[in-house]
Amino acid sequence: MKKPMRRIVIAIDGPAASGKSTTAREVARRLGLVYLDTGAMYRAVTFKALREGIDLKDGDGVAEMTRRTHLELQWVNNEQHVLLDGEDVSLAIRTPEVTAGTTPVSGHPQVREILVGWLRRMGATGGVVAEGRDTTSVVFPDADVKIFLSADIEARAGRRMKDLESVGVATSPNEQSELLSRRDHADSSRQASPLVKVPDAIEINTSHITIEQQVQRVVDLAREVAEA
Ligand code: DC
Repeated sequence: MKKPMRRIVIAIDGPAASGKSTTAREVARRLGLVYLDTGAMYRAVTFKALREGIDLKDGDGVAEMTRRTHLELQWVNNEQHVLLDGEDVSLAIRTPEVTAGTTPVSGHPQVREILVGWLRRMGATGGVVAEGRDTTSVVFPDADVKIFLSADIEARAGRRMKDLESVGVATSPNEQSELLSRRDHADSSRQASPLVKVPDAIEINTSHITIEQQVQRVVDLAREVAEA
């Protein structure tokens, strides 16, 4: 195994199903960095709000609940575990209901402020690969490497379908294209930290390249920065 690199911060943003989590996880593994799945945190907060019957449109209510929440991302045998107040909710946060609920929840500035604070503390000493919608623009604007991952809607719908099938949810490419288009619109047009490609981010379109190629590209960029 290669020696761990300088404690750099790599931030990766992009639309849903553009390959962010697969890329970030593998880049982190190869470079000996910690993977920060910021979407999992929005999902966990949404899951708890649904369970407590909190109106997802009530920003103050969701923020109040978030403040009395303890979230942890742990790695066991190369698998991420999301602990919500000590309970493992890794699978429960991937349901279509939670996915749909993250749109209103992640649109509340009060909620984002709390999660951004947590994420910055997690990355304060560097050595992380963070991925999400605002990691290059808001959470880590001084990241050493900033990546914007993109992919065309057909490629993304196909990936999303496979992910859902692997957890036993049957769906179709058309349904997923429709849902992704709606999420793209919501993520990019919201007032609070919309998804943007910041000027200093390097765009990688993953529609027609392999996972190995996209991972290698980020690893090469990171090594260039770390060794400069
Ligand atoms: O990447 P994902 O599908 O797990 O993200 C879940 C939701 O959280 C999605 O609606 C976008 C939102 N999100 C966000 O607003 N900001 C982030 N940094 C990460 C995710």
